[in-house]
Amino acid sequence: MQLLQDRVAIVTGAARGIGEAIALKLAEHGAHIAFTYVSDGSADKAAALEEKLRAMGVQARSWKTNAGDFAASEQFVAEVLKEFGKVDICVNNAGISKDNLLLRMTPEQWDEVMNVNLKSVYNMTKQVIRPMMKARKGSIINMSSIVGIRGNAGQSSYAASKAGIIGFTKSVAHELGSRNIRCNAIAPGFIETDMTHYLKDGEAAKGFMENIPLGRFGTAEEVGNATLFLASDLSSYITGQVISTCGGLNI
Ligand code: NAI
Repeated sequence: MQLLQDRVAIVTGAARGIGEAIALKLAEHGAHIAFTYVSDGSADKAAALEEKLRAMGVQARSWKTNAGDFAASEQFVAEVLKEFGKVDICVNNAGISKDNLLLRMTPEQWDEVMNVNLKSVYNMTKQVIRPMMKARKGSIINMSSIVGIRGNAGQSSYAASKAGIIGFTKSVAHELGSRNIRCNAIAPGFIETDMTHYLKDGEAAKGFMENIPLGRFGTAEEVGNATLFLASDLSSYITGQVISTCGGLNI
C-alpha cells in the first residue's frame, strides 16, 4: 500500500542513520524526497542515497546545507518549492550531541547543540508552514529524544534542546491545527546508529539493556516506521503528541 503517493517530503540530516532510514521508508510509500546533509565528508553517501531513492521510482535530490543557519534554510526551502512544487511533509531530523558534564561544558558546546538541534527546527518549520497553509495541509515531524523527557547525566545541553523541541511541537500544533497542519514529535530511545555506536559494548551497554523492557537497542527503520505513520493520513487526528520509540525505556 502506497501511503504517501506523490507527496513531497523534506528530511534534514539524511545522509546516514535515522534520517537515511526515514528517507527510504517515506520513498517506499511513494513520497518524493528532498534531503539535506551538512559536511563535505557526507557528499558521497548523499549521492548514493539519491540514486537509491530514484531507483525506487520517486524524485530525489540532496542539498548540502546547515539546518542551524536561518538564511540557508530559507534558501533551501525556496529551492525545494521551485524544484518539487510543494512540501507536504517536513521531518526535522538533523541533530548532534556534545556530551559533557555541566561542570565542564563550555558556552560554545552549549550553543552548538542548541543551534543544530533546536534552532534548526524553528528555521525549517518557519519556512515550510507558508506553503502548507496555502495548501491547507501538512505534517511536521520533529526528532526529539527520550533524553528530552527524562534527562541524562552528561547530556544537559542535548536534553534541553530535545525538551525544547517538545514545547515547540505542541505550540505549533496549537497554532496551526485550524489550518490542517499537524505537528508531532518522535522520542527515540537507544537506536543503533553512528551517534550511539560507542554505547553498544561493555558494562554501560548491559546497564542500558536492563532498563529496556524489549531488551535491545532499536533500529533506524523502526523510527522510520513511526515517522511514516505520523507523515501519512493514518495519523490524521493526531497532533501535538510525542511518540516514544524506545522499547519501553520510558515506562
Ligand atoms: P547521526 O549522527 O548518525 O546522524 C545525524 C545526521 O544529522 C547526520 O547525517 C549529520 O550529517 C546530520 N547533521 C548534523 N548536523 C547537521 C546540520 N547542522 N545540518 C544538517 N544536517 C546535520 O545521528 P542519528 O542517530 O541518525 O540521529 C538522528 C536524529 O535522531 C538526531 O536528531 C538525534 O538527536 C535523534 N536521536 C537519536 C537517537 C539514537 O539513539 N541514535 C536517540 C534519540 C534521538
